[in-house]
Amino acid sequence: MPVTALIGLQWGDEGKGKVVDVICDKMDVVVRAQGGANAGHTVIVAGRKHVLHLIPSGMLLPRVRGVIGNGVVLDPFQLVKELDTLGAAGYAIEDRLTISNRAHLVLPWHAALDAAFERHRGGSPIGTTGRGIGPAYMDKACREGIRVEELRHWDRLLLRLREQADRKNHLLAAFSSEPVAIEALIERLASVRERLLPMIADTVWSLNEDHMQGRQILIEGAQGSLLDVDLGTYPYVTSSQCHLGGLLAGSGMPPQSVTRVVGVCKAYTTRVGSGPFPTEERGDIGAAIRAKGQEFGATTGRPRRCGWLDLLALRYATTLNGVTEIALTKSDVLAGQGPIHVATTYEIDGRELKAFPSGSDLDVAVPRYRAFPGFDEDISACATVEELPGALRDYVSFIESALKIPIAMVSTGPGRHQTIRL
Ligand code: GDP
Ligand code: IMO
Ligand code: MG
Repeated sequence: MPVTALIGLQWGDEGKGKVVDVICDKMDVVVRAQGGANAGHTVIVAGRKHVLHLIPSGMLLPRVRGVIGNGVVLDPFQLVKELDTLGAAGYAIEDRLTISNRAHLVLPWHAALDAAFERHRGGSPIGTTGRGIGPAYMDKACREGIRVEELRHWDRLLLRLREQADRKNHLLAAFSSEPVAIEALIERLASVRERLLPMIADTVWSLNEDHMQGRQILIEGAQGSLLDVDLGTYPYVTSSQCHLGGLLAGSGMPPQSVTRVVGVCKAYTTRVGSGPFPTEERGDIGAAIRAKGQEFGATTGRPRRCGWLDLLALRYATTLNGVTEIALTKSDVLAGQGPIHVATTYEIDGRELKAFPSGSDLDVAVPRYRAFPGFDEDISACATVEELPGALRDYVSFIESALKIPIAMVSTGPGRHQTIRL
């Protein structure tokens, strides 16, 4: 069975959680492969809102099994909190979830260092989520990280934790930050360890076995392609690869197994944190989109920066991911916003640019827009494409033909059923 990958095409928060939940009706297994609890994926079931940070979003469907893959950096305390929250809401997740033995742990010194590094970036912080993601991936890259499998060998782990605490507390002291109290951490970790042990597995083998047995697998991307550490708007990015390559590396699935790549994008653009955003609307338009779209971070609650759709950025993201179909979300938010704008080119020093640039060019790029008539109708109850206002249908057709990729789904609201499949 072919594997499906689902990827954010912008700067995150595209509505991946909602789309995963919708397409998981056909899936057996859903996998998180990169990032950590910096992700906030919202799923609304029967009017009740759930925000998932580490647990794959598709697991709210009771028959879907979940995997936290090797590429994830896992905060064990956050995971247990999430299991409890979902448990209290009636979702039995634990028996259906496996965690890769190769995933790396995020520990309290990572969040402390995340905050310290942000304070010492010469007045230009990245605006991280503060979840310790960068420092955890730093440890992985410099081969200091503690992996999930080490939870199995408690005595050896205690030595590693004490050694790490010593190193990290030296570093924290250099940044005038409070040290991490190691004995208290050990006590807390011991209390969650028993719960996590039965879930730990070699998920590379189990996933490939699932694939060979013909089970339907969905790899759920976190963040978005423009936040990718290699291909995004560096240095204003996260610390994992959020594009298809990262999803493969972070799950252990072979490249040729993925034949369907669903790219998720909003009908406009948002970004949380610092960094270039050429189509940002800093005035009334951005504020109106934020208010109507409820654009506040699912993880940190920060207001999201809002602006128009950027075709250059989208074409870049669909190209590097080999997107085979697009899920367009939040089109309902464009109702009543006046004419809809889409950036089709940039201008830099009088030069016209058709390809998304990298580096400093992005800071000075001025978007050139094409305007489309807007619409005022409430589309949140539309069930077919024919019911959508003509202006929105024209907008969707334009995006489709400009990107030469079919738009397979138009989302008209946050709920499961507010979805039109084309
Ligand atoms: P993710 O990180 O990509 O999963 O996205 P988030 O959950 O962080 O943010 C997307 C927000 O938009 C959530 O509050 C969703 O409930 C909401 N949402 C998703 N699709 C739609 C849609 O089509 N219309 C509206 N109005 N809201 C949507
Ligand atoms: P989901 O999966 C939106 C952003 C942060 C910051 C930068 C680095 O919900 O789409 P980090 O904490 O990762 O070191 O922060 O990346 N960021 C996100 N923005 N959605 C996310 O996840 C994000 N995860 C990280 O705001 O700009
Ligand atoms: Mg989010």
